[in-house]
This record gives sequence, structure tokens and C-alpha cells, in this order.
Amino acid sequence: RCQSVNTEKERKSNRNLLDNASNLLTNFLSGGSIGSMPIAEGAVTDLFGRPLFFSLYDWFLEHGSVYKLAFGPKAFVVVSDPIVARHILRENAFSYDKGVLADILEPIMGKGLIPADLDTWKQRRRVIAPGFHASYLEAMVKIFRTCSERTISKINQLLEQEGNDGQKLVELDLEAEFSNLALDIIGLGVFNYDFGSVTKESPVIKAVYGTLFEAEHRSTFYIPYWKVPLATFIETDVEKLQQRDYLNLKDASLLRFLVDMRGADVDDRQLRDDLMTMLIAGHETTAAVLTWATFLLSQNPDKMRKAQAEVDSVLATGTPTYESLKKLQYIRLIVVESLRLYPQPPLLIRRSLKPDVLPGGYKGDKDGYAIPAGTDVFLSVYNMHRSPYFWERPDEFEPERFLVQRTNEQIEGWAGFDPSRSPGALYPNEIISDFAFLPFGGGPRKCVGDQFALMESTVALAMLLQNFDVQLKGTPDSVELVTGATIHTKNGLWCKLTKRSNFH
Ligand code: HEM
Repeated sequence: RCQSVNTEKERKSNRNLLDNASNLLTNFLSGGSIGSMPIAEGAVTDLFGRPLFFSLYDWFLEHGSVYKLAFGPKAFVVVSDPIVARHILRENAFSYDKGVLADILEPIMGKGLIPADLDTWKQRRRVIAPGFHASYLEAMVKIFRTCSERTISKINQLLEQEGNDGQKLVELDLEAEFSNLALDIIGLGVFNYDFGSVTKESPVIKAVYGTLFEAEHRSTFYIPYWKVPLATFIETDVEKLQQRDYLNLKDASLLRFLVDMRGADVDDRQLRDDLMTMLIAGHETTAAVLTWATFLLSQNPDKMRKAQAEVDSVLATGTPTYESLKKLQYIRLIVVESLRLYPQPPLLIRRSLKPDVLPGGYKGDKDGYAIPAGTDVFLSVYNMHRSPYFWERPDEFEPERFLVQRTNEQIEGWAGFDPSRSPGALYPNEIISDFAFLPFGGGPRKCVGDQFALMESTVALAMLLQNFDVQLKGTPDSVELVTGATIHTKNGLWCKLTKRSNFH
């Protein structure tokens, strides 16, 4: 009996193998290849007239969830489907590298984790990922709080200057404030270095590129941190390092962890590249989450009030702690909903290292396509996050949507939305949503700083809403979008802030 069960199993698995092989063959023979993909012809004006991801969305609705985008002789495969994304990012992750992205980022990030080739990545990921352990995050919450307090007192001071009569109001570009705040936080979290950009009269940097240059300069030249004999011993036992009393360590930064972790095999250049990468990866992205969360809340006063009510009931007049983050559920959902609508970056980039067969997408191309080695792929997170096939009212700001469990009865190959797949997770993620929601990517190259960034955004947003009422200065339409690595505004997020009347 047992034998016959096994044989049946074997038969099944042989059948699967055969099915796969014959699918491959059929794809090649019947033209289920890159050549037969729907084609969107891009005009150069698409690159300049408006952010590219808007056009990619229109073509997604027109051509389906896997299409070829041709710009003259250059072609990209654009993927807007969770099942295909799951395949590229997780199931077949090592058949892809970062392609054009690595070329763009290499000059500034060197061999840092984001652009790193597979060999470097394997070595460094093993060392860096453990740096984001629970006690480190707990120590970071203290930093998030202290830095947010500086932003709040700066706004309070501006309000004071408005004079004492009548309703005090200040007009401020909150995007710039969030950028300063996120820079101070990431500087302290990564190097234990205080940029002090929130409080300085003239901020260290106005433009983001200026910021990055300054940061790079400081990290490589002015303060050659890792040349200083910081540690009298080299501790390489990860667990021992993780068990230190991070809350009371003077320097809980990642630099300190990595310096203490490093063996003789890591050179200064690599350490610099790793830290630089994290500084860049963690700065603009988090500032953008706060910017869009504020933008969305300002257009949804009911949700703003609901968020403020939660903050008042959880924190009263106190400040957020690692523990109280668990109770700030609505704020956490606002953060993730903002990341759904404005993912940073809106596209993930890959290049196939060997031939591959993509699984059938949900719409338009059920059979999947074979792609040759060297194919450039754009995974449009923006499209997946606003896909009408996977989300109800995809363009609406509705943090509550993450509380609803969904089964997969209509969508073949998609496991649905189920929080029990990621027990204990504080925030919805790509596992819970089976790659329909993937703000931090997924698979082995998923963001290492996801919890850092989510907690940082939650603390900063909670404290802002606790202290101020925020309104947009102009109309929502006047806030134009532009994109680089992140989605940001063209001229800042100008808001009117008043001290909350019921808050003392
Ligand atoms: C990778 C998003 C904050 C460090 C990634 C990826 C995404 C992402 C989508 C995957 C890229 C890909 O697959 O091509 C974000 C967002 C953030 C954020 C939306 C803020 C809201 C941070 C922070 C840090 C960080 C705070 C560090 C302190 C990294 C690193 C990688 C990465 C090192 C590369 C991981 C690897 O290749 O193994 N991030 N990130 N990120 N992120 Fe983040």
C-alpha cells in the first residue's frame, strides 16, 4: 500500500516535471516567448512628460500583466502581477541580478548590498541582516522619538514666533522637514553620527543630492570611523553581540555592530559601501512615506481624526515606545497604506542571468513567457499595489483594507490575503498578501531595514498628529509628482500647521 502511495507521488512529480518541460517547449515553439509578448511602444516624451510609472500603469491595463516595453532598440519586460513577481524575486531569485540598477548605483554605493553582485551580496547579507535584531530596533525607537521631538519643538518655536494673539498657524514644507528628520535618524542609526539637520539654522543640505554628497564625504573622509580603534576586542559571536544592553549602549549603531562583527576578511572600502548604501536606502524612502501619509491624511479628515483619537488614547501626553507601537494599530496601517499607494521605489529592476520561463500572469497572458538570458525586467510595484485585479477601489486611501482577510477563490495561483501566514508580524507584508503588497520587495534580496523604516514612520507620524492639526496649503492637484528613486513632490509638501487645541 505504502509503496503504491509513493509510486503515485512519484508519478505525480514526474508528471509535473514533464508538464514543466513540455510547457517550456510549447512556449518556445508556439511563440510564448518574449517575441510574442504584447508590446507597448514608448515614446521618448513618455520619459519626460510625466513620471514613467503612470504610463506603465496605462499600458498594464491595456496590454496585460506582462508586456514588452520598447524604446527604440531597447526593450524591457514590464511585470505587474504578484505571481510573476513572486517567481522572479523569490522562487527563481538567483537567476536574476540588478542589471541596469547596479550600473546606476555602483558609483555611489560601490559594492554595497543593493547593487552588489551575488558573491559579495551573499557574504555581506549574512553579516548585515543580523544587525537589525530586536534590541537594536528597541534602541532605535528611542532615537526616532528624540529626533521627532526636535522636529516638533522646531515647529512649536515657529508657532511661537507667530505672536500670541489669535489662532497661531505656520506654513511649512513638510517634505523638507521629513527629509531632515529622516537624515538625522539614519545618521544616528547607521553611524551614530548626528547630522543635526533638523535644528541647524541652515540645514546641512537643501537638495537631496547635496545631502548624499555631504554624507558620502563625511563617511569617507572627515570621520574615518573605522580606522579609529573603537573596539579593544573583535567580537564575532552574533548572538553575544545581539544580547548586549542596546538601550544603554552609548553607541547602538549598525557601524558599531559591523565593526565588532567584522573579521579580517572585510576591508574598509566594503564597510564604507555597506554603510553608504544604508544611509541612502534609509533616508529618502522613509521621508517619502511620511510625506505621502501626510498628503493622504490631509485629504481624508475623518481618517486624520480617527488617527489622532488613537494616538490620544494610546499615548495621552506621553511619547511612543517600542511597546506602545503595538497599540498604534491605525497609525501602522496608515503607514503601510501610504506605501501601497506610493511605493518607494515604484519599480524594482532585474536582469535575467539565464533563460527563464515566467509563470502565467493573472490577466491577459495565462500561459507565461520564456525569456532569454540578459532580459531587462521592470517589476512595477506601483502597478501591483494599484492592480484592479487584486484590490478593491485600488486608488482609494483606505488603511482599514488590511484588516480584511481575502481568499483566493477567483485568482488561480494566488494564495490570497491571510495574516496567519506571518504570525506576530506588526505590519502587513508580502507574505501575508502573497506578493500583492510588496513595499520592501521579497525573497532573499528583500529590504533589511523594513522594520526600522516602518517603526520610524509610525513614531514620527504619531508624534506629528499628536501635536498638530495639518492641512494642505494648496489643492491636492497642485502637489505635482516627480520620480527618481522615490516618488516625491515637485515643489514640496506645503502645509498649514496649528497646535492641536485639545492637546496640552
Ligand atoms: C532593499 C524599500 C528603508 C536598507 C530594499 C528593497 C526595497 C526597499 C523595495 C528591495 C530592492 C530590490 O529588490 O531591488 C525600502 C523602503 C524603505 C526602506 C520603502 C523605507 C520606507 C530602508 C532602511 C534601510 C534599508 C531604513 C537601512 C537602514 C536596504 C538594503 C537593501 C534594501 C541594505 C538591499 C538588500 C539586499 O539586496 O539584500 N529596500 N527600504 N532600507 N534596503 Fe530598503
